[in-house]
Amino acid sequence: MMHYFFRSGNPELAPVLLLHSTGGNETELIQLADMIASEHPIIAIRGRVSEQGYNRYFERYAEGNFNLNSLEKESDWLVKEIKNLSNQFNLDIFKMIVIGYSNGANIALHISLAKNIKFAKIIALHAMHLTSVPVTSEKLKDTKVFVSYGENDPIVPKLSFNSLIENLKSAGANLEIHTQPGSHQLTRSEINAAQQWLK
Ligand code: MLT
Repeated sequence: MMHYFFRSGNPELAPVLLLHSTGGNETELIQLADMIASEHPIIAIRGRVSEQGYNRYFERYAEGNFNLNSLEKESDWLVKEIKNLSNQFNLDIFKMIVIGYSNGANIALHISLAKNIKFAKIIALHAMHLTSVPVTSEKLKDTKVFVSYGENDPIVPKLSFNSLIENLKSAGANLEIHTQPGSHQLTRSEINAAQQWLK
């Protein structure tokens, strides 16, 4: 069974897709969406992988050591579910703003780099590099991407973040990078920055 959340909001506004962090669920980022994109239609999909009871979008062997077979399989599943829900609720994926945090940010960027789906905007909070996706310079050329990074984040090494940025740049993404002195937590400053960037 697939777990999701839908709120119709104002259908004139771009739909928002929420992808949670490890251990979160489809309600985790609703408050955040209300802060940075209030009134927008919302869909949120729960990752179907369970790591000792913690929901995720793909398996990993350890922190930062990802199961790439699971990543591919679950990415295909997620793309299919996003398309199904968008059809069902009449949401335009080309206008969609994806907000992902940590594990959700990682899969959001991965599907837009590697799979057959195109979003308008992606807010990737505390994302990291998963695997180098061979890309053409066209893949993200119509996508605006906001990525946040905490300089003292023990989960996201600087090298990993830099590799992610290289991958996004070579895919032609229109990038905004928000660096802050914090860790892996969401901060007021990045939420404000994401809100400003969306305007
Ligand atoms: C997480 O804890 O979710 C990691 O930061 C990223 C991941 O495993 O995808």
